Order: sequence, then structure tokens, then C-alpha cells
Amino acid sequence: MASPSRSGVFEMATDHRVELFSESISFDRRLYAHDIRGSIAHAQMLASVGVLLAEEAEQIEAGLLQIQAQIEAGEMVFQIGLEDIHMHIEQALIDQLGDVGRKLHTGRSRNDQVSTATRLWIRDAIDRVDGLLAEVQRAFIDRCDHDVEVILPAYTHLQRAQPVLAAHYWLAYCEKFARDRSRLADCRRRVNTSSLGTVALAGTSIPIDREDVARRLGFEAVAANSIDVSSDRDFVLETAFVLTVIAEHLSTWAEEWILWSTVEFGFIELPQEFCTGSSIMPQKINPDVLELTRGKTGRVVGNLQTLLVLAKGLPLAYNRDLQEDKQPLFDSFDTIEAILGLAAPMIRGMRLQEDAIASGLDHGYLDATTFMEYLIKEGMPQRTAHHLVGEIVGKARRERVPLAELPLAAFQESHPDLDERVFDVLGVQKAVAAFVSYGSTAPQEVARQIADWKQRLADDATEVVTEETL
Ligand code: ARG
Repeated sequence: MASPSRSGVFEMATDHRVELFSESISFDRRLYAHDIRGSIAHAQMLASVGVLLAEEAEQIEAGLLQIQAQIEAGEMVFQIGLEDIHMHIEQALIDQLGDVGRKLHTGRSRNDQVSTATRLWIRDAIDRVDGLLAEVQRAFIDRCDHDVEVILPAYTHLQRAQPVLAAHYWLAYCEKFARDRSRLADCRRRVNTSSLGTVALAGTSIPIDREDVARRLGFEAVAANSIDVSSDRDFVLETAFVLTVIAEHLSTWAEEWILWSTVEFGFIELPQEFCTGSSIMPQKINPDVLELTRGKTGRVVGNLQTLLVLAKGLPLAYNRDLQEDKQPLFDSFDTIEAILGLAAPMIRGMRLQEDAIASGLDHGYLDATTFMEYLIKEGMPQRTAHHLVGEIVGKARRERVPLAELPLAAFQESHPDLDERVFDVLGVQKAVAAFVSYGSTAPQEVARQIADWKQRLADDATEVVTEETL
């Protein structure tokens, strides 16, 4: 079918190869509900300013809702001749209503229409991702109570560094996802700006009311400059960036748990429902979901790259290049939503190998830093204490024993002032208890963080309920 966008100026039909090359219906059909929502608001606004009769707007609204039901029932026939979802819906409306349907596109263009539908779609998708991130945070916080006694080695350079409570690890991820949620919320404010009524690029002579349509669609602001809107894809770029940071965080988590689930680390057992087997090695229980989480991060990073290059160097205002933003945008959301949906149950189902972890804690001199800090508190300059503890660790390494198992004589040989009180600060338990500064790993500090988080997540839940109720 000839596209309604092909005006009387054309004497020739579009070459079929061009239709194939330039269609977007194969992927932008996902915008149907948001396109319809935008069109209904537009028609209502046109009626409110007297451009349409109230009955016409009502007919248009009823017609569009019927089209939505048809699409949802799988009854819409998609065809590349109609290019995109916007033309499909408009054509279906014209087929249904004739001239009344032909009036819908008054005072708008596909440029502001596409931007509006995309913004509405992203707004919903951001809210879904935010909910999934909250669920992952809840999964980690629930673990905190469960794993409250467990101490894990923490690493820098993937070398054993200092001991921490397992809950301290879980809280670290909660913080990362909190920043992600805050970035999403910030980005949502700019996404949630109305472009409708900027029309092709210069506005319109039709007496539209942009504030009215923005209010009907729940937008927080009205974009101020029509040329800007016609060319703007910042909101897609920044959304893709925020999703990329989320993917990076998930990839770190995945990599860490892949390592921890190896025999070499032996810290965790992954829930078997989320693992796969080997077709040849019968003993294998493989962490494929985590590996794919790490691997799919590559696509999310790639999607951001695609979008950045796409937007680079386009002259103002609209250019057809912008149609290419949908697939990377959709793919990043699909990927992140899929990962997050699996992350929460995996976090809940993981089992810490507490005995194996505990029996390994004496390796790696995790108490060396707090021993050094004990000496500092006794009046020794930091650099002197740092050197001295290094020397004593060297002795213990040569003897293959933990610091607490060296005889007092070995300490005194390095420094005559040392006495048996050193044994009061050695050992992993004591080291953990000693880290009392704000945000650190001592049990009371971690308990404070857990309590804060429970409060934050409870406030969160109340907010959602209130928003829904309003
Ligand atoms: N399918 C196109 C897209 O999604 C529609 C853009 C229409 N605008 C235009 N000037 N051709 O971007």
C-alpha cells in the first residue's frame, strides 16, 4: 500500500528495494501502544483548542483504541510499504474513519510523533528497570541477615587484602545499584519532556496547545525549541549510557561469582536451576548465566557506541539516520531486563560454603593492616609500622604460619618494645572488628548500613504504592 506520507508530488511509486531498505516497521512496532497514547492526547488537545470537533476527537480515540486491540490480538497486517508503526496506525484509522482519520495528523509531524512515542516507551522501560534493580537490592539485603556471621577475604589486584563481612560485599552492590537508580531517575526527567507540537522542525501555524498535550501525557516539561527537538536524541544516548553502567556493574558481579564458584576459590555454590551441564564432562556444573551476563555486557556497550556514532555530526534538524536508534535502544533494555530478572533469584539461591571459607581465612595475612594500625595507635609512625609489619609477615611467610602463630620472640626480635598484647589484635575476627570508621566493615558499621538500607527500600515501596494510588 502506498504510504500516506507520499504526497501528490510523486509521479512514481517507491522502488520496492527502497521500501525494504528503509522500513522500520519490523522493529518500531514495539512502540504501538505509546504511539496510540500520544495520538489520543494530540486529538484531545486539538479538540480542546477547537481544531477538531469533540465528536471527531472521540471517534479518533475510540478508533485508536480499537486499533490497539487489533494489534494486541495479532490482527494487524504489517507491510513495509507503510514504513513504520506510526503510518500503520494512521492508515488503519483512515481506513476506519475516512476523513476524520485524515485529520489526526494536523499540527504534528512524524518527527515529533516518533520522539514522543520513544520518550513514552523509555519512560515505562526505565520504571521497569528501576523495579528490577530494587528487587536485586532486596535480594542482597535479605542475604545480609542470612550471612551475618560470615567473613570473606576482600581483594585488591585479585590478591587477598583485608577481611570483611560477607554482608559488606552485598551492601557494596546495593550502593552501586543505588547510583544506577539515581542516574535512571535523573535521566528520566529529561526523557519525560514533551516534544509533541514541535512538528517537523519549526512549529506550526495551527493554534495548538503544547502544555495541554504534555499534561495529558504526564510529561514534566515542554521542550522549548522546535529545531532542537527535531534533531535531539540525547535522551536515547543518556539512557543507553545509564544502561551500560548497569551492565558493567552486573558484569563485575558475574565475574566475581564465576571466580568464587570455582574449586580454586570454593566460596559459593550457585543454585543448580541456574547452571548448565557439559555434554562430555559429567561432573561439570557451569555458571553459564553469569558468563552470558558478562558476555551480553558487550552488546550493551556496543549499543551505546552505535548510538554515539549515529548521532555524531548530523546537521540540524531531523535526519533519517535517527530511525536507527531504535534497535540498539530496545536491545539494551531487553538485555538488561533479562539479566536483572535472573540476577535476583540467583542471588537469593546462592549458598556460601562457610566451612571452606572459614578454613582459608588464615591464609594471606588479612590481619596485617590492623596490626600495623595497632602499632600506629601505640605511637609508631605509619611508615615505620608499615615496614616493621612487612618484615614480620616475611618471617611468618617463611615459616608458613599465620601472624598469630609466630612466637612472641619473633616479634620482639624485630622490635624489642612489642609485647604479648600483639596477640589481642591478630586474627581475622579481631581485624574485622577493628575496622570501625564510617562505611567500613566492623559488625556495628555493617549493621548500621543494613538498617539504613532496609529503611530506604521500605520508603521506596511506600513511594511506589503512593504513586500508584494517586
Ligand atoms: N520511520 C521514521 C523514523 O522512525 C519516521 C520518520 C519520519 N520523518 C521523516 N522526516 N521521514 O524515524
